[in-house]
Amino acid sequence: MAENTHLQELESLRDAAIQELESIPDESGLEAWRVEYLGRSGKLTQVLRGVSTLPADARPVIGAAGNKVKVALEGRLGERQAAIVNARLDSLADDAIDISLPGRSLAVGRLHPSTIILREITEIFRGMGFQVVEGPEVELDRYNFEALNIPKDHPARDMFDTFWIDANKDAEGRFTTLLRTHTSPMQARIMEAHEPPIRVVVPGKVYRYEATDATHESQFYQVEGLAVDKGITFANLKHTLHEFARRMFGSERKMRFRCDYFPFVEPGVDVSIDCFNCDGTDSSCRICRGAGWLEIMGAGMVHPNVLRNVGYDPEVYSGFAFGMGPERIAMLKYGIEDVRLFYGNDMRFLRQF
Ligand code: DAH
Repeated sequence: MAENTHLQELESLRDAAIQELESIPDESGLEAWRVEYLGRSGKLTQVLRGVSTLPADARPVIGAAGNKVKVALEGRLGERQAAIVNARLDSLADDAIDISLPGRSLAVGRLHPSTIILREITEIFRGMGFQVVEGPEVELDRYNFEALNIPKDHPARDMFDTFWIDANKDAEGRFTTLLRTHTSPMQARIMEAHEPPIRVVVPGKVYRYEATDATHESQFYQVEGLAVDKGITFANLKHTLHEFARRMFGSERKMRFRCDYFPFVEPGVDVSIDCFNCDGTDSSCRICRGAGWLEIMGAGMVHPNVLRNVGYDPEVYSGFAFGMGPERIAMLKYGIEDVRLFYGNDMRFLRQF
């Protein structure tokens, strides 16, 4: 009799546990359920413990039935656990990533057109045996002007509208420090510090105190070149620059040298290439505007005074120098019509390079 009651008790415990289990939504609920029924002081465990107090003939029957219930509940628990995990995976699949959507591209930086051209220029000269060096943007009057054969009150100073630095003054009350107006002062610095032979190019920023328009900026780049040794002639200058022009603008390029004046060279020239856009044949060419020629730099043989100023003997050494503006060259090469675009930070412009 007692046996039957116990069996019924076990059955209803099993049924209640299973019913409860089926409505549990998550894993923490499952754990609570396990503790309630199968835990060390859980309901089923207590029933099983009570078996020892039963009459000897009832023990094996109830014990066996109790173990069966235990195995059944553990089995159901495992199933329910798997069902909950699967349901969660299914719901993830519902709002899964649509792998057919185009990806979001990362914004990748790019080189500024001035940087591209600067690197092209310096690479070409590096390939011809020139070293690349850089110098200070805050410069002394001594290097920017005086060492370059432009003494105080020399009219050539008007060529360079200068940003003076309101710091040191000389005995006459004139500023001695400035933002370099060209990269040429590095000619003097390099010659002062080294003995010939010298072959260098100097890329760098320069500054001019002037109103900006489509062809003028107050800050831009220059690349200076200098070669000094015994026996350097104008022929070396012509060959070097022609080779540069061919590598930069194409092997068909012709070059034109015309007399020009720069205080630090004698003779001085301006250097042009024939128009790579129209070969000088189109009177309405948008690059050369019908001129057929494009001015790309100033150059010349280093003035004896400049050599003397740095302690070189002009009877022993000679050299050539040149200076060019990479923005101007980029404007020609890419057909850019306004120099202000270079530093306008307009992404529509910058993305094109
Ligand atoms: N420094 C000159 C300028 O800014 C450019 C130049 C001309 C540099 C002739 C040179 C040179 O080295 O020989 O206008």
